[in-house]
Amino acid sequence: MRPAPVIRLTQRLSVPFDYPVVFTRGLFEPANSLLADTLDRLHEGRRHRLMVCLDAGVLRTYPELPRRLTATIRAHRDRLELAGPIVTVVGGERSKDNLNTATRLVRAMQARRLCRHSVVLVVGGGSVLDVAGFAASLVHRGLRVVRVPTTVAAQDDVGVGVKTGVDAFGAKNFLGTFAPPFAVLNDFDFLDRLPHREWVAGLSEAFKVALIKDKPFFIWLCRNAALLNARDRAAMEQAVVRCAKLHLDHIRTGGDPFETGSARPLDFGHWSAHQLEVMSGYRLRHGEAVAMGIALDMVIAWRLGFVGESDLAALLDGLRASGLPAWTPLLESRARNGKLAILNGLESFREHLGGELTLSLPCPVGRRTEIHELPKALVVTAIRELQVHNGLGAARLPAPAGTRRRSAPERWPTSAIV
Ligand SMILES: NC(=O)c1ccc[n+]([C@@H]2O[C@H](COP(=O)([O-])OP(=O)(O)OC[C@H]3O[C@@H](n4cnc5c(N)ncnc54)[C@H](O)[C@@H]3O)[C@@H](O)[C@H]2O)c1
Ligand SMILES: [Zn+2]
Repeated sequence: MRPAPVIRLTQRLSVPFDYPVVFTRGLFEPANSLLADTLDRLHEGRRHRLMVCLDAGVLRTYPELPRRLTATIRAHRDRLELAGPIVTVVGGERSKDNLNTATRLVRAMQARRLCRHSVVLVVGGGSVLDVAGFAASLVHRGLRVVRVPTTVAAQDDVGVGVKTGVDAFGAKNFLGTFAPPFAVLNDFDFLDRLPHREWVAGLSEAFKVALIKDKPFFIWLCRNAALLNARDRAAMEQAVVRCAKLHLDHIRTGGDPFETGSARPLDFGHWSAHQLEVMSGYRLRHGEAVAMGIALDMVIAWRLGFVGESDLAALLDGLRASGLPAWTPLLESRARNGKLAILNGLESFREHLGGELTLSLPCPVGRRTEIHELPKALVVTAIRELQVHNGLGAARLPAPAGTRRRSAPERWPTSAIV
């Protein structure tokens, strides 16, 4: 029998996305036209209806905010119109650890009769940006979202990216969408009253991206770690802008903005970080878990001969000086079957990415390489070394045997350095 003829049509779409990412102060001053100018950036000649989602933690810290926000919208009423009362969203991981908040937000969007030209203005930390962005990306297949990130992590990482996410079924960010924002307006005023734990937590993403992309920035971070921990505003603003720019550059030029491949360089250190967050019942901040995740992966990179001992010591000292943790006893905890529980993170990470396990590691600092296998024994050794460091300090880290270090890359093959 002859095979049936195949009719093959080809479709190719290419949709450009562009969004401004602005850093400023005083965004919600009625005299400031930045919000109105941004919503009107396409000069559509109409008033823009907007629904405001406000992080409850931000509201607690800035009780005057709703009044200022509505006054700013009223001052520019020729271009802006508030659609219904401001919606307050519980802050932190609680807002995204199930679908309740997302469902409530979707209903609020429907009640306000938002259309695809309406705007959802999200003012909050990374968790609220994630959940509100997720909800908005589902309604009418995607509403315009303007993000106003209010934590260090939200300004230097979450806010500038193209992803949304909600935790489900015990897995971090199990549900989520790719949904680039319409604009990102970072107001440094929001960092002034940020609890110190949040202030510090956001720095781990800066260490992360510097280690794989920008050695001078890594050195700068280590040198300025104590200043950053002492809440120097100018230093923090520099760190935030540089970190955000590195993330933006990677998303634009990395060749895979919607992450269809298996590599995820910006998730360096995250395979264990996400696992630690889940294991801690989200008591650990994302940034704290990332600090421990990059510390662990840096020990692994050192063991593999990718980075020097002085680089590792600089990171561990830098984390400590900036107030970030490099160790938690959770790293040693065992699952019911006696297996090191953290190792479950490797399998979840592989599943999340799809295909072959691909982990990015610094090689050398400021550049990266990929490994596709991470032997359990190496993780166990790295955890032990991190523990030693935690007890004894960087100067007393036991050096790995030189021969082993040199032979390691053959046993754990890498792809080209990019
Ligand atoms: N979508 C992405 O690309 C991406 C990237 C990295 C991280 N994330 C996610 O971001 C989340 C972490 O975000 P985060 O670190 O910004 O913390 P967060 O959003 O969980 O906020 C932490 C706490 O700070 C409060 N808060 C926020 N802004 C404040 C302010 N200005 N003043 C006082 N309190 C304030 C919040 O109410 C909350 O209680 C995690 O869920 C993580 O997975 C997403
Ligand atoms: Zn992260």
